[in-house]
Amino acid sequence: MNRIFNFSAGPANLPLAVLEQARDELTSWQGRGLSVMEDSHRGPHFMELAEQSEEDLRDLLAIPDRYAVLFMQGGATLQFATIPMNLAREGQGVDYLVTGHWGRKASAEAAKLRPLQIVADGEELQYRSVPARNRWVEGKDAAYFHYTANETLHGLEIDPPPDVDYVPLVCDMSSTLLSRPIPVERFGLIYACAQKNLGPAGVTVVIVRRDLLERVPADTPLALNYRKIADAGSMLNTPATFPWYMASLVFRWVAAQGGATGMAERNRRKANLLYDYIDASDFYANHVDPNWRSWMNVPFTLADPELNASFLEDSEAEGLYGLKGHRAVGGMRASIYNAMPEKGVKALVGFMEEFERRA
Ligand SMILES: Cc1ncc(COP(=O)(O)O)c(C=O)c1O
Repeated sequence: MNRIFNFSAGPANLPLAVLEQARDELTSWQGRGLSVMEDSHRGPHFMELAEQSEEDLRDLLAIPDRYAVLFMQGGATLQFATIPMNLAREGQGVDYLVTGHWGRKASAEAAKLRPLQIVADGEELQYRSVPARNRWVEGKDAAYFHYTANETLHGLEIDPPPDVDYVPLVCDMSSTLLSRPIPVERFGLIYACAQKNLGPAGVTVVIVRRDLLERVPADTPLALNYRKIADAGSMLNTPATFPWYMASLVFRWVAAQGGATGMAERNRRKANLLYDYIDASDFYANHVDPNWRSWMNVPFTLADPELNASFLEDSEAEGLYGLKGHRAVGGMRASIYNAMPEKGVKALVGFMEEFERRA
């Protein structure tokens, strides 16, 4: 079997050990003669998986008891609407810091439901940097402050969290959760789709401070109601059992790599390797302000865009897949999530050197 190095932004690569375990257990989970996909979500075996996976995630991120952990569906995009519905009253404002494509999407969805205040928008900085804190304009009586920890398209990452304490901090961590330790207690709510660092698409993790559940309006639709979902242990209706199972294996894998701290050390090394090479080269460039460069997504351009097509073709022939940048940004992008081994990044740098030499 020939595995390639997959640099896609999401769905992204999964740890080989996780895929192999899932393969081995596919038709007979726990040696019981049925697949996890075929087992009842309310049966003792899946219930145990659900409880254990929550505990594992709590351990990995040091999530305090005063936070509920929900396993939902609908991806991050459904959270864009679910958050204002749950955390803001009808007519109450919501504050959004926009530092890229996903923050803009989240704010546009919120604007359909609640009065929106854009605290600052980095568009004039081409989303290559974060607007200065002293230029942010906060809303009055906002229900919460939302930002995107890692803008997947632009390769811009905000860490540590912004200095905001006037309202609960709400964060889209879709492309950064589990890549490093985070100060959970700084947040009111954290959410992440799975298909970058947590598992396959289909399960969405929400970590929410329990006191905020008191805010949830009674008329919030059931399947979107954080309070009801928390009360039901994420079993209000049939959860996405297979993606949840895959996420449970990924949590174990992350723990075996040294947890969030171990991942952070590895991710820093991988990102530095790539940025150092790009910065030293006249042929490649990354345009993101070095203060805000992402460990997870590294966009880069070639000095001559005419070479883009052959770069992509040749890299794919070398087993380096998914390097095309998002159409909104152009150029290339290497997504180097947790499951990308260091040797994958080394192989990419080796190819980039070789391509430059030949060009
Ligand atoms: C930061 C961020 N937020 C939100 C999304 C949207 O996630 P989904 O497709 O699960 O709705 C993505 C997907 O790439 C993302 O990277």
